[in-house]
Amino acid sequence: MINILSTKQFNKDDIESILSRASIMEKDLKEGTVKKLLSDKVIACVFFEPSTRTRLSFETAAIRLGANVISVENAEVSSSAFKGESIEDTTRMLSCYADAIVMRHHKALAAEVAASVSTKPILNAGDGANQHPSQALLDVYTIKKEHGRLDNLSIAFVGDLKNSRPLHSLMPIFMFYPNNTFYFISPKELVISEELRGELKDKNIKFVESQNLEETLPKVDVLYMTRVQKERFTNIEDYEKVKDSFLLKKEHLELMKKESIILHPLPRVNEIDKEIDNDHRACYFREAQNGLYVRMALYLYVFGL
Ligand code: CP
Repeated sequence: MINILSTKQFNKDDIESILSRASIMEKDLKEGTVKKLLSDKVIACVFFEPSTRTRLSFETAAIRLGANVISVENAEVSSSAFKGESIEDTTRMLSCYADAIVMRHHKALAAEVAASVSTKPILNAGDGANQHPSQALLDVYTIKKEHGRLDNLSIAFVGDLKNSRPLHSLMPIFMFYPNNTFYFISPKELVISEELRGELKDKNIKFVESQNLEETLPKVDVLYMTRVQKERFTNIEDYEKVKDSFLLKKEHLELMKKESIILHPLPRVNEIDKEIDNDHRACYFREAQNGLYVRMALYLYVFGL
């Protein structure tokens, strides 16, 4: 049984195969030729944390492939978790009803806990600040589609790099692709983990840590903005101090390469001024759209289809 818990589980062939399948899904959707390969399946989407894109695109992906969907939003209060039911027992029940379980949870490693008791594939839709594998795959799908490659790129990550599960999921994928340079731009309170820093050094991967966005912008092919996530702070004063650290404005575009792209996993709060939405480099809504194709590919991957 195949789960999708973390991008660390993939080798390069897995990544390439998922991206290639996603590309076929995109083409089939556009041409109206999607095969209903999941017509005998029920997919459970159970979200203990809020979501717009991930839940609805996983559900749409399932429906497009012919599956039926059962869904729990606000599971923290609307499922029996509210009465104290454990993740394990909730998962055991879901395994009785559905053929695969898409789960988002505020606790890191919740998907691993669910997988330890599940008799059906678990697809991690985000577990705390730990992992968001489908987000990372749709991000690299977008970068490959826009730039035609995943190597020889300069990539800047900006914002909350301590708690960013997209970053934590993206870096294991990028380790397979040579000659990339990474810029990590964050307030000093929200820098990358010591573990990631050590891994980059061990692998001789070029990276720069900085707090200067303007200085970095002219160098990058991919600018990946992230939200400072209020929900990850225990002290609201700590959040207030860093929440508006980096805002990408129209005048910043002048500093950027014409062929660069701007990504953001969304939702954005105060990281990207909406004035730049119409610039061809603003790629974040195309990125979210790509999530549908990638999540269709992920269902086919876990079901071995
Ligand atoms: N990027 C992302 O996970 O968005 P949602 O929280 O809306 O699912």
